[in-house]
Amino acid sequence: MNDSTGTDQMLIKKIQKLAKEKNAIILAHNYQPPEIQQIADLCGDSLELSIQASKTLADIIVFCGVHFMAETAYILSPDKTVLLPNPDAGCPMADMVDPVALRARKRELGNIPVVTYVNSSAAVKAVSDICCTSANVIKVANSIASDEILMTPDKNLALYAAANTDKKIHLWEGYCPFHNNLTVQDVTSARAAHPKALFIAHPECPPNILELADSIQSTSGMIRFAGQSNADQFILGTENGLLYPISKAHPRKKFYPASDKMYCPDMKKITLNHVAISLENLTGEIKVPEDIRLAALGSVQKMIDLK
Ligand code: 13P
Ligand code: SF4
Repeated sequence: MNDSTGTDQMLIKKIQKLAKEKNAIILAHNYQPPEIQQIADLCGDSLELSIQASKTLADIIVFCGVHFMAETAYILSPDKTVLLPNPDAGCPMADMVDPVALRARKRELGNIPVVTYVNSSAAVKAVSDICCTSANVIKVANSIASDEILMTPDKNLALYAAANTDKKIHLWEGYCPFHNNLTVQDVTSARAAHPKALFIAHPECPPNILELADSIQSTSGMIRFAGQSNADQFILGTENGLLYPISKAHPRKKFYPASDKMYCPDMKKITLNHVAISLENLTGEIKVPEDIRLAALGSVQKMIDLK
């Protein structure tokens, strides 16, 4: 933290003091800015953070991520105060599906089971049969008794699952604008610049990108894969926030972005100041109406129980 300013240091001390006094746990997604990951009690991918949110003994969960992540924490722990330090942090992909349209599509397809990526609202989870993350999508798809599934909202994750299971998977036309925009040309240029590097891609990337990948992983999966691999250079086909935790975990290895365009502004909306204010005044509290929470809990819990 040698480049942090005096103000940052003061904020960090304040956050640490408040977190201790209020028995709060700070969770941060792997894409969060470095200074946020540095103050977090736990950093991870969506699955790891969901599991931690369901197990923690803290009274307050400060979720440094985007809205659906804090909502998922509340769904699992309604007796806790869940704070999203900047409530403007959303996920464009989560906004590409709504419960009314999803119900209608499910009916149209003869009420086949709906598998919903955690990158979705509580209301969408509530009309789904089970949730999944990038880390467990194949396991979740294989756990479904039916041969046909409707998967929302990410078409790329659904295509990835379809390529790795025997299920017939109906797509929803959603996508992550940053992963979906990665092109073959971007990957070819990155490989030309770093010929010894392996290319690791996130399953939110389109199929033509996944075809080029040496490995397909969730964000934490990428960190583990880099540690286990004999290679010492990697091109990352994911949001560039991952460069910080992966380089920190493997300081002797080199990591390069597949494209500088893979930058999610929503994942950078939480600052140290937001965290301090939110903890001090309990602002940014996330709640879900109880009927929706209970219905959504069924889908989230089924996923966690599959572990
Ligand atoms: P994971 O960290 O679960 O792989 O998710 C990536 C993502 O896009 C979260 O918004
Ligand atoms: Fe949503 Fe993509 Fe940003 Fe993740 S990286 S929060 S999927 S827009």
